[in-house]
Amino acid sequence: MRKNIVAGNWKMNKTLEEGIKLAEAVDKLVSQGTPENTDVIIAPPFIHLAELAKRIDTGKVKLSAQNCAAEAAGAYTGEVSPAMVRSTGAEYVIIGHSERRQYYGETDAILKKKTELALENDLTPIFCCGEVLEERNAKQHFEVVKTQISDALFLLSEEEFGKIIIAYEPVWAIGTGVTATPEQAQEMHAYIRSLVNKRYGKQIAEDITILYGGSCKPSNAGELFSNPDVDGGLIGGASLKADDFYAIIRSF
Ligand code: PGA
Repeated sequence: MRKNIVAGNWKMNKTLEEGIKLAEAVDKLVSQGTPENTDVIIAPPFIHLAELAKRIDTGKVKLSAQNCAAEAAGAYTGEVSPAMVRSTGAEYVIIGHSERRQYYGETDAILKKKTELALENDLTPIFCCGEVLEERNAKQHFEVVKTQISDALFLLSEEEFGKIIIAYEPVWAIGTGVTATPEQAQEMHAYIRSLVNKRYGKQIAEDITILYGGSCKPSNAGELFSNPDVDGGLIGGASLKADDFYAIIRSF
């Protein structure tokens, strides 16, 4: 059955001490209760993962990395492998965030490798896709998202693909305060589900969780999440405040 998910992407914010405080605050709020069938995930920086795994109830607040290496091990200075991420207790990894694509040159080919390696190491990929403003204005947004998803994911087996979470994040909405309208989000999510249906069939398309990301906050989350194909959110800025993040979780 399809899961609702609210995931917090902390990006490059919070020292370890600050991160512990935020994660413990989220943990405390979440222990007061969450809507049925809704998973909560936080994605702090790599260096926080092992410590947070000891301090929070990871049965209720699950841990994700924000990235992982495209190689399994070896001479790749500064990189963190999927196996290392998994060994901290993290269960998820964000792959292909637009900031990784834009600032670190991550291509669909690289993201395909990362996704496969993450799956091999028992991590659930949260795969990000989305168009930039010029592409939307040129009405290329469906084509762009189709290419991102099919090039990186559509060679996976049914069993592998069944584990993927997709996050649609229009780049023009990330950190800008401009949110996609509920209609724009629903339209793209339904399109993504139709692509999955064509490639993997009805059951997998029905079951896959598709998150919306981009300036999602307590005041607009309810309206976004009430769309039939929007199964939650990947939250940046608003995940840095425990109360706001919890309000978003409760808005289902
Ligand atoms: P934002 O970021 O909520 O701050 O717009 C979302 C994201 O990049 O995942």
